[in-house]
Amino acid sequence: MDTLEKLVSKFQERYGTPPEKIARAPGRVNLIGEHTDYNEGFVMPIAIDRDVLIAARARPDNQVHITALDVQDGQTDVFALDDISHHHEYRWANYVRGVAFYLSQYETKLVGIDAAISSNLPSGAGLSSSAALEVCTATILQAFTPRRLGGVAVAQLCQKAENNFVGVKSGIMDQYASALGERGAAIKIDCRALTYETVNLPRGVTVVVADTNKKRHLAGSDYNTRRMECENATMLLGQLLGKRVPALRDVSYKEFKIVAKHLPENLMRRARHVITENDRVQKAARAAARNDAAKFGTLMAQSQTSLREDYEASSPELDTMIDIARSQPGCLGSRLTGAGWGGATVNLVHNENVQDFCKNVAREYQERTGIEAWVSPVQASQGAGVVVWNQREGKA
Ligand code: GLA
Repeated sequence: MDTLEKLVSKFQERYGTPPEKIARAPGRVNLIGEHTDYNEGFVMPIAIDRDVLIAARARPDNQVHITALDVQDGQTDVFALDDISHHHEYRWANYVRGVAFYLSQYETKLVGIDAAISSNLPSGAGLSSSAALEVCTATILQAFTPRRLGGVAVAQLCQKAENNFVGVKSGIMDQYASALGERGAAIKIDCRALTYETVNLPRGVTVVVADTNKKRHLAGSDYNTRRMECENATMLLGQLLGKRVPALRDVSYKEFKIVAKHLPENLMRRARHVITENDRVQKAARAAARNDAAKFGTLMAQSQTSLREDYEASSPELDTMIDIARSQPGCLGSRLTGAGWGGATVNLVHNENVQDFCKNVAREYQERTGIEAWVSPVQASQGAGVVVWNQREGKA
């Protein structure tokens, strides 16, 4: 039975009828452009073929009854749409509540739902399972109302929920990729303008994700510390350059080099990462357009060096995983993806080597660390939407 059929049958078991609507929102893998989104720069993720699904039917009142099928045999949360506060126990519930809270401020005609969530996205792997849950929640709640927000507005609303309701100060990339990803392509997002360009990946290569299985906690202090360091570097660079610098995006590498020696060492490094990473995203987009997979891979490698040395966002497990990946035939590039400090790597691998790559990397990683890894090719998939599905037959 596939995931969708399983969800429909579990829904039926739980609520006694089939669902009326099903929404889907994918996770994402970022190919290049790390820690640039909250500096108003550029990122290049793909939405992946692993996702969160929410099946639902309307309720006659304004309550939300929602069961997380994959969390401890189905934890259920119940809340009213006009009275949303924090859930003190279930972490996952706050992503749902946060989105419902902000959506209810925009859309007064939200209806209550009975709902069930299922997901095949590993959580804590840096594949944006939280953003996918947020975007999926927005999609299912809106599926029962006539007024719909566009993809960018959905991403912004979900980011607001994560920043202010859940309390994690993430950038816009994950929610944006989940809402607006394109099938078969990466998207290069301008995180200031909130626009994107489609980037067709070089031919003959596959994106492979390797999860180190060392969980990362975004709410942890590293991410927030880096954000603060970037803000401080931005302010100092403005003073040193004598110009308005709203974000690190506004400093060229040439300008940076002139004044870098006057910055405290740690801020100099953080800023250098962000400024050079923005350049790498532009270069990667040009390499993809030329179908130059080797150059794309080299830029990924440079991104990793910068993340490890200047941003100090790698981890021993990530370094080991990348080391192993790079020694495999057909591997063009390997780097950490997402925030770092654990989680997954993204790899660019020649199509004919993918099978061996997955097998060998998982085996060698286990030999060297004693940890079982999840290594798998992923496909670029479409952003969130309501699933067209044959209710009578229970088939997608
Ligand atoms: C996490 C955040 C994103 C982004 C990345 C780093 O995934 O949610 O907004 O900042 O880290 O690139």
